[in-house]
Amino acid sequence: MSVKASFDGAPEQGVIDFGVGQPSADLLPVDLLRGGSERYFASAQALELNYGDKQGDVHFRKALAGFMTGVSGHAATPESLFLSAGNSQALDFICQRFTQPGDTVIVEEPSYFLAFRVFHDHGLNIVGIPMDQHGMDIDRFEQALARHRPRLVYTIPSFHNPTGRTLTGERRERLLALSREHGFTIVADEVYQFLHCGEPPPASFGTMIEQGHVLSLGSFSKILAPSLRLGWIQANADAIRSMLASGVIISGGNFNHFTSHVVRQLLEDGSLARHLAHLRSTYAARVEAMDEALREHLGDWATWEIPRGGYFFWLTLPQGINAADLQAAARQARTGFQPGASCSSSGGLHNCLRLSFAHYSVAEIHEGIGRLGKALRVATDSRV
Ligand SMILES: Cc1ncc(COP(=O)(O)O)c(C=O)c1O
Repeated sequence: MSVKASFDGAPEQGVIDFGVGQPSADLLPVDLLRGGSERYFASAQALELNYGDKQGDVHFRKALAGFMTGVSGHAATPESLFLSAGNSQALDFICQRFTQPGDTVIVEEPSYFLAFRVFHDHGLNIVGIPMDQHGMDIDRFEQALARHRPRLVYTIPSFHNPTGRTLTGERRERLLALSREHGFTIVADEVYQFLHCGEPPPASFGTMIEQGHVLSLGSFSKILAPSLRLGWIQANADAIRSMLASGVIISGGNFNHFTSHVVRQLLEDGSLARHLAHLRSTYAARVEAMDEALREHLGDWATWEIPRGGYFFWLTLPQGINAADLQAAARQARTGFQPGASCSSSGGLHNCLRLSFAHYSVAEIHEGIGRLGKALRVATDSRV
């Protein structure tokens, strides 16, 4: 008997909640993982079930480096990769290894709201720097450096969560130069870097690890399945040495050794690269559908930029409107969104909201945005 899958934040039957930033069921490749597991077990060696390499299984890291080089066109080496249990865990681990309570972390304003929770866990002060359509405003960042001495700068450089924006190559270079000059570490959360709908983003921070203080985080959550809890940190030899000296690694080995054996099969036989191509074309169609539906239902009221990859649209509503106040109306219309203020480190951006296009089909996107448009207008009209 099959039991219905459950997950935190799952929308009720019939609700189209664009607040859900997870893939739709049709994009979670059960068959691919079944095939990878079967191939792994057909040739598994018993000793592979031991603790394994502390940095992550060397065959897995070779396969991952080959995959990254193939899909991005920029060479990655197995020596520069350190296996993680996904970017959330990597962030927590980095804070534990490289910060002290009371240190400052600079983030984009807005930023990935759940990263704030990790930084709070480690007693860090969070300072937000505004963005424009080209990513973090580096002039404002440079001014902030005079007042704050950040230990970390956390950036989501490609197809940013929540704005969908991408930091330009030139700004990446400036940030890197500033990291050398001021000694802070860039933590680049590159979870969406391979999910472009058209042009690829500029070279990742992973390609810059030898030129400054850089830790680049990657994950299989958005290109394969979040449940795997598997990812990587790309870093130079000094940073890797420091991470390898962690007690948890020395005692328990790396974070998700077993899963890496299965995923390795999909890296080596090219099936993950093919799946990625499928994801890109599926998401490109969803971006187009969401833009079309927004123009039809909210075009004269909200503004947005069309994301070129990732998962999200970021909408700006007229000044004075608080998106959080509209949530009840959206819920009543059986739809939903993520209010912008939750993505602000200073509780601002009330008139903004985030919509994910990853969890719904083109038809559901049209239906859901229609519901949302009507609900938001009725709710704001009734307030005037
Ligand atoms: C910017 C960002 N970082 C990290 C994560 C979580 O990544 P992981 O599943 O690898 O922990 C997400 C998921 O939505 C994200 O958007």
